[in-house]
Amino acid sequence: MSALLEVDRLQVAYGGVVAVRDVSLSVEPGQVTAVLGANGAGKTTTLLGISGLVRARAGSVAFDGRSLLGMAPERIARLGVAHVPAGRGIFPGLSVADNLRMGLYGARRDGSADGLEAVEEVLEAFPILRERRTQAAGTMSGGQQQQLAIGRALVQRPRLLLLDEMSMGLSPTVVADLFVLVRRLARQGMAVVMVEQFVGQALKVADVAVVIEQGSVVAAGPPASLSAEDIGAAYLGGDGHAAARLPGASRDARQQVPLSLAGVDVRRLERLAAARGRTADELAQELLEQALLEKTPSGGTS
Ligand SMILES: Nc1ncnc2c1ncn2[C@@H]1O[C@H](COP(=O)(O)OP(=O)(O)O)[C@@H](O)[C@H]1O
Ligand SMILES: [Mg+2]
Repeated sequence: MSALLEVDRLQVAYGGVVAVRDVSLSVEPGQVTAVLGANGAGKTTTLLGISGLVRARAGSVAFDGRSLLGMAPERIARLGVAHVPAGRGIFPGLSVADNLRMGLYGARRDGSADGLEAVEEVLEAFPILRERRTQAAGTMSGGQQQQLAIGRALVQRPRLLLLDEMSMGLSPTVVADLFVLVRRLARQGMAVVMVEQFVGQALKVADVAVVIEQGSVVAAGPPASLSAEDIGAAYLGGDGHAAARLPGASRDARQQVPLSLAGVDVRRLERLAAARGRTADELAQELLEQALLEKTPSGGTS
Protein backbone atom coordinates (compact mmCIF):
# COMPACT_ATOMS: atom_id res chain seq x y z
CA MET A 1 0.00 0.00 0.00
CA SER A 2 1.34 3.40 -0.90
CA ALA A 3 1.30 6.26 1.58
CA LEU A 4 -1.35 8.97 1.47
CA LEU A 5 1.25 11.65 2.18
CA GLU A 6 4.84 11.32 1.13
CA VAL A 7 7.24 14.09 2.05
CA ASP A 8 10.72 13.54 0.72
CA ARG A 9 13.75 15.64 1.68
CA LEU A 10 11.66 18.76 2.05
CA GLN A 11 13.58 22.01 2.30
CA VAL A 12 12.04 25.40 3.08
CA ALA A 13 13.79 28.73 3.56
CA TYR A 14 12.60 32.12 4.73
CA GLY A 15 14.64 34.54 2.71
CA GLY A 16 18.13 33.12 3.00
CA VAL A 17 17.46 31.30 6.28
CA VAL A 18 16.83 27.60 5.95
CA ALA A 19 14.06 26.59 8.39
CA VAL A 20 13.49 23.07 7.10
CA ARG A 21 16.63 21.40 5.84
CA ASP A 22 15.85 17.74 5.36
CA VAL A 23 12.44 16.42 6.36
CA SER A 24 11.00 13.20 5.04
CA LEU A 25 7.89 11.50 6.32
CA SER A 26 5.33 9.08 5.08
CA VAL A 27 1.78 8.92 6.39
CA GLU A 28 -0.80 6.18 5.83
CA PRO A 29 -4.57 6.58 6.11
CA GLY A 30 -5.76 5.85 9.64
CA GLN A 31 -2.39 6.69 11.10
CA VAL A 32 -1.43 9.37 13.62
CA THR A 33 2.02 10.86 13.14
CA ALA A 34 3.46 13.06 15.89
CA VAL A 35 6.00 15.65 14.80
CA LEU A 36 8.15 16.53 17.79
CA GLY A 37 11.05 18.86 18.38
CA ALA A 38 12.24 21.87 20.29
CA ASN A 39 11.09 25.41 19.61
CA GLY A 40 12.33 26.60 16.25
CA ALA A 41 13.10 23.07 15.02
CA GLY A 42 11.01 23.56 11.89
CA LYS A 43 7.79 21.74 12.82
CA THR A 44 5.39 24.52 11.88
CA THR A 45 7.28 25.20 8.67
CA THR A 46 7.01 21.53 7.74
CA LEU A 47 3.21 21.67 8.05
CA LEU A 48 3.10 24.95 6.11
CA GLY A 49 5.16 23.33 3.40
CA ILE A 50 2.70 20.44 3.12
CA SER A 51 -0.41 22.63 2.91
CA GLY A 52 1.21 25.00 0.44
CA LEU A 53 1.33 28.04 2.72
CA VAL A 54 5.08 28.32 2.23
CA ARG A 55 7.00 27.34 -0.87
CA ALA A 56 9.35 24.42 -0.78
CA ARG A 57 12.86 25.16 -1.94
CA ALA A 58 13.71 21.54 -2.63
CA GLY A 59 12.35 18.06 -2.11
CA SER A 60 8.89 16.76 -2.81
CA VAL A 61 5.47 16.57 -1.23
CA ALA A 62 3.03 14.08 -2.72
CA PHE A 63 -0.56 13.55 -1.64
CA ASP A 64 -2.31 10.49 -2.97
CA GLY A 65 0.46 10.18 -5.53
CA ARG A 66 0.11 13.74 -6.79
CA SER A 67 2.72 16.43 -6.26
CA LEU A 68 1.49 19.37 -4.18
CA LEU A 69 4.50 21.55 -4.89
CA GLY A 70 3.58 24.88 -6.44
CA MET A 71 -0.13 24.23 -5.93
CA ALA A 72 -2.28 26.96 -4.38
CA PRO A 73 -3.28 26.27 -0.74
CA GLU A 74 -7.00 26.35 -1.69
CA ARG A 75 -6.45 23.67 -4.23
CA ILE A 76 -4.51 21.55 -1.75
CA ALA A 77 -7.40 22.00 0.71
CA ARG A 78 -9.87 20.86 -1.92
CA LEU A 79 -7.83 17.72 -2.53
CA GLY A 80 -8.45 16.81 1.12
CA VAL A 81 -5.73 18.41 3.23
CA ALA A 82 -6.96 20.46 6.20
CA HIS A 83 -4.60 22.53 8.32
CA VAL A 84 -5.39 23.71 11.84
CA PRO A 85 -2.70 26.33 12.46
CA ALA A 86 -1.00 27.11 15.73
CA GLY A 87 -3.07 29.70 17.55
CA ARG A 88 -6.18 28.12 15.97
CA GLY A 89 -6.84 30.82 13.38
CA ILE A 90 -10.53 31.13 14.14
CA PHE A 91 -12.39 34.43 13.74
CA PRO A 92 -13.16 35.55 17.29
CA GLY A 93 -15.80 38.09 16.28
CA LEU A 94 -17.73 35.65 14.09
CA SER A 95 -20.25 33.19 15.44
CA VAL A 96 -19.38 29.53 15.79
CA ALA A 97 -21.65 28.71 12.83
CA ASP A 98 -20.01 31.34 10.63
CA ASN A 99 -16.56 30.06 11.56
CA LEU A 100 -17.60 26.59 10.42
CA ARG A 101 -18.90 28.05 7.14
CA MET A 102 -15.53 29.73 6.67
CA GLY A 103 -14.05 26.24 6.66
CA LEU A 104 -16.22 25.40 3.67
CA TYR A 105 -15.22 28.62 1.98
CA GLY A 106 -11.53 27.83 2.40
CA ALA A 107 -12.03 24.58 0.55
CA ARG A 108 -14.46 26.23 -1.95
CA ARG A 109 -17.32 24.03 -0.83
CA ASP A 110 -19.55 26.79 0.54
CA GLY A 111 -23.15 26.75 -0.55
CA SER A 112 -23.10 23.12 -1.63
CA ALA A 113 -25.65 20.79 -0.04
CA ASP A 114 -22.78 18.52 0.72
CA GLY A 115 -21.01 21.33 2.58
CA LEU A 116 -24.02 22.07 4.75
CA GLU A 117 -24.29 18.41 5.56
CA ALA A 118 -20.64 18.42 6.60
CA VAL A 119 -21.33 21.34 8.98
CA GLU A 120 -24.25 19.37 10.42
CA GLU A 121 -21.95 16.38 10.98
CA VAL A 122 -19.47 18.53 12.86
CA LEU A 123 -22.23 19.98 15.04
CA GLU A 124 -23.26 16.40 15.73
CA ALA A 125 -19.74 15.41 16.71
CA PHE A 126 -19.17 18.50 18.89
CA PRO A 127 -22.36 19.12 20.91
CA ILE A 128 -20.82 22.18 22.55
CA LEU A 129 -20.48 23.83 19.14
CA ARG A 130 -24.16 23.28 18.41
CA GLU A 131 -25.05 24.68 21.80
CA ARG A 132 -22.90 27.76 21.15
CA ARG A 133 -23.46 28.10 17.41
CA THR A 134 -24.77 31.67 17.53
CA GLN A 135 -22.16 32.79 20.07
CA ALA A 136 -19.07 34.78 19.08
CA ALA A 137 -16.18 32.31 18.88
CA GLY A 138 -13.86 34.56 20.88
CA THR A 139 -16.09 34.35 23.95
CA MET A 140 -15.66 30.59 24.31
CA SER A 141 -13.05 28.81 26.44
CA GLY A 142 -9.72 27.83 24.93
CA GLY A 143 -10.74 24.18 24.70
CA GLN A 144 -14.00 25.06 22.97
CA GLN A 145 -12.15 27.31 20.54
CA GLN A 146 -9.79 24.47 19.73
CA GLN A 147 -12.77 22.18 19.09
CA LEU A 148 -14.09 24.86 16.76
CA ALA A 149 -10.75 25.12 14.97
CA ILE A 150 -10.69 21.36 14.45
CA GLY A 151 -14.40 21.35 13.55
CA ARG A 152 -13.76 24.00 10.94
CA ALA A 153 -11.09 21.78 9.40
CA LEU A 154 -13.39 18.74 9.53
CA VAL A 155 -16.17 20.41 7.52
CA GLN A 156 -13.76 20.05 4.60
CA ARG A 157 -14.02 16.28 5.13
CA PRO A 158 -10.25 16.02 4.86
CA ARG A 159 -8.34 12.83 4.29
CA LEU A 160 -5.29 14.40 5.91
CA LEU A 161 -5.54 16.61 8.99
CA LEU A 162 -2.58 18.75 10.03
CA LEU A 163 -2.72 19.92 13.66
CA ASP A 164 -0.18 22.46 14.88
CA GLU A 165 0.17 22.63 18.67
CA MET A 166 -3.45 21.76 19.22
CA SER A 167 -2.89 21.36 22.96
CA MET A 168 -1.15 24.70 23.49
CA GLY A 169 -2.45 26.54 26.53
CA LEU A 170 -5.15 23.99 27.35
CA SER A 171 -5.68 22.11 30.59
CA PRO A 172 -4.55 18.47 30.75
CA THR A 173 -8.11 17.12 30.77
CA VAL A 174 -9.06 19.13 27.69
CA VAL A 175 -5.87 17.96 26.01
CA ALA A 176 -6.68 14.35 26.87
CA ASP A 177 -10.12 14.76 25.26
CA LEU A 178 -8.54 16.19 22.11
CA PHE A 179 -6.15 13.24 21.91
CA VAL A 180 -9.13 10.89 22.19
CA LEU A 181 -10.72 12.80 19.31
CA VAL A 182 -7.55 12.41 17.25
CA ARG A 183 -7.58 8.65 17.79
CA ARG A 184 -11.25 8.52 16.80
CA LEU A 185 -10.57 10.40 13.56
CA ALA A 186 -7.75 8.01 12.76
CA ARG A 187 -10.02 5.04 13.43
CA GLN A 188 -12.39 6.49 10.86
CA GLY A 189 -9.55 6.35 8.35
CA MET A 190 -8.21 9.89 8.51
CA ALA A 191 -4.47 10.47 8.43
CA VAL A 192 -3.41 12.91 11.15
CA VAL A 193 -0.11 14.73 11.44
CA MET A 194 0.15 16.56 14.74
CA VAL A 195 2.87 18.86 15.98
CA GLU A 196 2.94 18.54 19.74
CA GLN A 197 4.64 19.98 22.80
CA PHE A 198 3.04 17.38 25.08
CA VAL A 199 5.66 14.83 24.10
CA GLY A 200 4.70 12.11 26.57
CA GLN A 201 1.04 12.09 25.62
CA ALA A 202 1.74 12.51 21.94
CA LEU A 203 3.95 9.41 22.03
CA LYS A 204 1.11 7.44 23.59
CA VAL A 205 -1.37 8.52 20.93
CA ALA A 206 0.84 8.40 17.84
CA ASP A 207 1.51 5.42 15.59
CA VAL A 208 4.66 7.06 14.32
CA ALA A 209 6.80 9.81 15.81
CA VAL A 210 9.15 12.04 13.86
CA VAL A 211 11.70 14.08 15.79
CA ILE A 212 13.01 17.19 14.07
CA GLU A 213 16.10 19.01 15.19
CA GLN A 214 17.33 22.18 13.50
CA GLY A 215 15.31 21.50 10.37
CA SER A 216 16.27 17.85 9.93
CA VAL A 217 14.65 14.59 10.98
CA VAL A 218 16.89 12.98 13.58
CA ALA A 219 14.64 10.08 14.54
CA ALA A 220 11.48 8.48 13.18
CA GLY A 221 9.49 5.35 13.86
CA PRO A 222 6.95 3.83 16.21
CA PRO A 223 7.20 5.54 19.61
CA ALA A 224 8.47 2.36 21.27
CA SER A 225 11.44 2.31 18.90
CA LEU A 226 12.68 5.75 19.93
CA SER A 227 15.67 5.93 22.24
CA ALA A 228 15.90 8.12 25.30
CA GLU A 229 18.20 10.41 23.34
CA ASP A 230 15.62 10.73 20.57
CA ILE A 231 12.98 11.66 23.13
CA GLY A 232 15.37 14.07 24.79
CA ALA A 233 15.86 15.77 21.44
CA ALA A 234 12.10 16.05 21.10
CA TYR A 235 12.04 18.13 24.26
CA LEU A 236 15.26 20.02 23.98
CA GLY A 237 16.85 19.69 20.62
CA GLY A 238 19.94 18.40 22.43
CA ASP A 239 22.98 17.75 20.29
CA GLY A 240 23.65 14.27 21.59
CA HIS A 241 27.25 14.76 22.70
CA ALA A 242 26.67 15.96 26.12
CA ALA A 243 28.52 16.86 29.23
CA ALA A 244 26.39 17.28 32.32
CA ARG A 245 23.92 14.77 33.67
CA LEU A 246 20.24 15.55 33.91
CA PRO A 247 19.70 17.19 37.28
CA GLY A 248 17.42 15.56 39.77
CA ALA A 249 16.87 12.25 38.03
CA SER A 250 16.93 9.32 40.40
CA ARG A 251 20.07 7.22 40.26
CA ASP A 252 18.03 4.21 39.14
CA ALA A 253 16.58 6.06 36.21
CA ARG A 254 20.01 7.32 35.24
CA GLN A 255 21.43 3.84 35.31
CA GLN A 256 18.67 2.49 33.12
CA VAL A 257 18.65 5.32 30.63
CA PRO A 258 22.07 6.86 30.26
CA LEU A 259 20.77 10.22 29.11
CA SER A 260 23.15 13.09 29.43
CA LEU A 261 22.85 16.70 28.46
CA ALA A 262 25.17 19.57 27.74
CA GLY A 263 25.11 22.50 30.13
CA VAL A 264 23.25 24.56 27.58
CA ASP A 265 20.55 21.88 27.45
CA VAL A 266 20.27 21.81 31.20
CA ARG A 267 19.57 25.54 31.11
CA ARG A 268 16.97 24.95 28.38
CA LEU A 269 15.39 22.28 30.53
CA GLU A 270 15.24 24.72 33.41
CA ARG A 271 13.60 27.36 31.22
CA LEU A 272 11.14 24.85 29.81
CA ALA A 273 10.28 23.70 33.33
CA ALA A 274 9.79 27.28 34.50
CA ALA A 275 7.49 27.97 31.54
CA ARG A 276 5.37 25.00 32.56
CA GLY A 277 5.32 25.91 36.24
CA ARG A 278 7.36 22.83 37.12
CA THR A 279 10.78 22.25 38.54
CA ALA A 280 13.58 21.05 36.29
CA ASP A 281 13.77 17.95 38.50
CA GLU A 282 10.13 17.09 37.87
CA LEU A 283 10.48 17.58 34.15
CA ALA A 284 13.69 15.55 34.01
CA GLN A 285 11.97 12.79 35.94
CA GLU A 286 9.03 12.79 33.56
CA LEU A 287 11.35 12.68 30.59
CA LEU A 288 13.23 9.69 31.93
CA GLU A 289 10.14 7.84 33.11
CA GLN A 290 8.57 8.37 29.72
CA ALA A 291 11.63 6.96 28.07
CA LEU A 292 11.59 3.95 30.39
CA LEU A 293 7.88 3.40 29.87
CA GLU A 294 8.32 3.33 26.13
CA LYS A 295 11.00 0.71 26.57
CA THR A 296 8.95 -1.52 28.87
CA PRO A 297 7.23 -4.15 26.70
CA SER A 298 4.20 -4.35 29.02
CA GLY A 299 3.95 -0.56 28.96
CA GLY A 300 2.77 -0.64 32.55
CA THR A 301 3.65 1.76 35.30
CA SER A 302 6.17 0.60 37.82
N1 LIG B 1 8.19 33.88 8.78
C1 LIG B 1 9.45 33.57 9.13
N2 LIG B 1 10.48 34.34 8.69
C2 LIG B 1 11.75 34.03 9.00
N3 LIG B 1 12.11 32.98 9.78
C3 LIG B 1 11.13 32.21 10.25
C4 LIG B 1 9.74 32.46 9.96
N4 LIG B 1 9.00 31.51 10.56
C5 LIG B 1 9.86 30.71 11.20
N5 LIG B 1 11.14 31.13 11.03
C6 LIG B 1 12.34 30.46 11.55
O1 LIG B 1 12.37 29.16 11.00
C7 LIG B 1 12.79 28.22 11.99
C8 LIG B 1 11.73 27.16 12.15
O2 LIG B 1 10.55 27.75 12.68
P1 LIG B 1 9.24 26.94 12.95
O3 LIG B 1 8.93 26.07 11.79
O4 LIG B 1 8.20 27.91 13.36
O5 LIG B 1 9.67 26.02 14.18
P2 LIG B 1 8.80 25.20 15.25
O6 LIG B 1 7.38 25.16 14.77
O7 LIG B 1 9.45 23.87 15.30
O8 LIG B 1 8.94 25.93 16.54
C9 LIG B 1 13.06 29.01 13.24
O9 LIG B 1 14.44 29.28 13.28
C10 LIG B 1 12.28 30.28 13.04
O10 LIG B 1 12.89 31.35 13.71
MG1 LIG C 1 5.64 25.85 15.68
